[in-house]
Amino acid sequence: TQHWKLSTHISEYDEAIVEAAELLKQQQVVAFPTETVYGLGGDATSATAVQRIFDAKGRPADNPLIVHVADQSHVEELVTEIPPIARKLIEQFWPGPLTLILPSNGTAAENVTAGLSTIAIRMPDHPVALSILKAAGKPLAAPSANRSGRPSPTEAVHVAQDLDGRIAGIVDGGPTGVGVESTVLDCTARIPIILRPGGVTKEDLQPLIPEVIVDPALAAQGSKPKSPGMKYAHYAPEAPLWLVDGDVSFFQDQINQLQAVDKRVGVMASHELADALDHSRTLRCGSRNNLAEVAGNLYGALRQFKKADVDVILCEAFPDHGVGAAVMNRLSKAAVQKVIQ
Ligand code: TXA
Ligand code: MG
Repeated sequence: TQHWKLSTHISEYDEAIVEAAELLKQQQVVAFPTETVYGLGGDATSATAVQRIFDAKGRPADNPLIVHVADQSHVEELVTEIPPIARKLIEQFWPGPLTLILPSNGTAAENVTAGLSTIAIRMPDHPVALSILKAAGKPLAAPSANRSGRPSPTEAVHVAQDLDGRIAGIVDGGPTGVGVESTVLDCTARIPIILRPGGVTKEDLQPLIPEVIVDPALAAQGSKPKSPGMKYAHYAPEAPLWLVDGDVSFFQDQINQLQAVDKRVGVMASHELADALDHSRTLRCGSRNNLAEVAGNLYGALRQFKKADVDVILCEAFPDHGVGAAVMNRLSKAAVQKVIQ
């Protein structure tokens, strides 16, 4: 695996960008930063490249990938039509963390869409991702650059932990900003449906789509979500994670009870809760009043707890509004257990 580290000034003529693009043109797969998480890119029109992505990640073949474009005109080449509402959303939110599900015209390799008649497309808001897309001159399929089931990577070192030796290259452009993945929005129905909450919030979408709903299957146990990826176990840290929803004394009781039976407890909490608890092994992920900060630190914190150090992770339940909806969606999927007051 080749490693490149980029400075702040980036153009499509940078050596790292040119070399990464060259590998992509040869159907190889390369990890690079987007504004959400690091992606593992491959030519979306090449079944060989796409298969390499699935193999490197150990991803189930029935879980389709997001195709990334640097230019709006490239969307037309991949779909049969762009509904008017999708055009408005593109106008307002691209480049940015919003993925649109549109009717595929079959130009993308068949394994990108896992055989579905629809295709997921977004334009990332990151200079490195955009430069690589331009230099490669192809739409790039890019799922998060982690081994399947693990927390998504928000730094190049996370990618290396999971994929070193399994992929052709890693472009290090520093930590990503948003920290959780893009919002996946199905635009093939009359009223668009949020299939995965993410960086663009429901509240952000409502001025344009007042009727927008979240796929009800995401909240219901045992029902089948419309987005294939949402049915898999995901984002799992090394130690089992319990999601704790209650006040400070309830949280402290949970810690004490586990310690009483000799469990080594790791805590993931806001500054507010961390300050109120009496516990040393606590990782802070930001303020309860700044959920964007919590989102930005979420996956890094999940990766920091090692099996060797903790037996169980107790994690605070965060407010479910704004980007908190994405945070809670990921934590619910990472959790083996919910402890509610
Ligand atoms: O922020 C992101 O979206 C990152 C960065 C790298 O762009 N990418 C990412 O990709 O999160 P991935 O593959 O980890 O997640 C793609 C999600 C999965 O839940 C998948 O099931 C869903 O999008 N998806 C892809 N194509 C779909 C389709 N045609 N219909 C419904 N869901 C689809
Ligand atoms: Mg992923």
